[in-house]
Amino acid sequence: MTEQLWRDVDTYFGGLLVGPDTALDAAREANTAAGLPAIDVTPALGKLLGLLAGSIGARRILEIGTLGGYSTIWLARALPPDGRLITCEIDPTHAAVARENLARAGLDGIVEVLEGPAAQTLTSVAGPFDLVFIDADKPSISEYFTHALRLSHPGTMIIVDNVVRRGSVIDPDSDDDAVRGTRRFAEMLAAEERVSATVIQTVGSKGHDGFALAVVG
Ligand code: SAH
Ligand code: DHB
Ligand code: MG
Repeated sequence: MTEQLWRDVDTYFGGLLVGPDTALDAAREANTAAGLPAIDVTPALGKLLGLLAGSIGARRILEIGTLGGYSTIWLARALPPDGRLITCEIDPTHAAVARENLARAGLDGIVEVLEGPAAQTLTSVAGPFDLVFIDADKPSISEYFTHALRLSHPGTMIIVDNVVRRGSVIDPDSDDDAVRGTRRFAEMLAAEERVSATVIQTVGSKGHDGFALAVVG
């Protein structure tokens, strides 16, 4: 009942504030057709990513975890014509679907899909970036956050998806690698003096979750 209500509210505001969108809708359909997991950000969070990128005037964006490029499209649309987005994806099928989705959205000129394990590909990426969105394998979040800091400048915004996971994050004895990785990141975030950060819990069509938002000082 409760989860259904969260879903219905997402659908209500999604219909009002996002609505039909040829490229985004086609991307979701292509993802489903190719058998990709339906774990993209919700339309509401996608729109928030775009609004945040636009409001800080982001010109260079780094994304870790592309899937089919749904969140990538939201972020890339917020860029100016000479902006640039690099997105890291380990799975060749996901990367191929994302490239098609991005081309259909007319964004292939400003987005580069970096294929391979992000821990490796990130070592060859040159910064700085104005915004970093971390949304890949959860055990590696703190490693990616370290890269994000290395590739940042004062004012860089770093957003990390899925840091609540139905509340499992508060279990100190969890043997789930995703939970342990997220907790490691949370402790690192708290101790990191170069950033000011918060976590916002969310409910909606993907259940109970949340994201961390950190700004480099
Ligand atoms: N940001 C996307 C969803 C990403 S899902 C959206 O909202 O639309 C997480 C993605 O991270 C998956 O496609 C998965 O293949 C990728 N991934 C997992 N481990 C990775 C790694 N080590 N390096 C790069 N990408 C990885
Ligand atoms: C999963 C990953 C995500 O990035 C997400 O937003 C939801 C679920 C997952 O791996 O289950
Ligand atoms: Mg996610």
